[in-house]
Amino acid sequence: MKLFANCLLLSALAAPAFASDSELPATRFSEDCASCHGVGGAGDGPVAAVLKIRPTDLTLLGSGGSFPYARVYRAIDGRDLPLAHGTPDMPVWGERYKRALGPLGEKVLHQRIDALVKYVESLQVH
Ligand code: HEC
Repeated sequence: MKLFANCLLLSALAAPAFASDSELPATRFSEDCASCHGVGGAGDGPVAAVLKIRPTDLTLLGSGGSFPYARVYRAIDGRDLPLAHGTPDMPVWGERYKRALGPLGEKVLHQRIDALVKYVESLQVH
């Protein structure tokens, strides 16, 4: 009976929790970004060693005084960067997310990138 209850609990949690969990910026960051940029954003993820260009230390982006929201947004979206196809080491997330979101489209994409930018802002050491 206890086992049954646990199973019920698990299946109740599984579906909705997963869909919204992946929209949590911390979860998304650890899934999509940490491999290169590191869990804390310092550019020390496990994949960093094999890249030609070192992943940016995201914890220092605000060290100029104010956090460069627009620049970070564009870097993550990637679709309107002139080098979008010239720097294969930083994925073009705008394109990937758009493909994955399909009909949900641009609005959800914007919310997702906005949340990621704010998450990166929260990692600043200054
Ligand atoms: C496959 C490795 C990889 C992954 C995964 C990755 N990045 Fe990057 N990222 C890079 C590299 C390499 C650079 C440096 C690019 C350059 O200098 O041209 C970079 C640069 C950046 C910059 C630019 C900072 C600046 O100086 O303007 C930001 C912001 C950034 N990444 C955020 C993210 C976020 C957020 C994610 C997850 C959604 C992510 N990255 C996932 C490799 C990666």
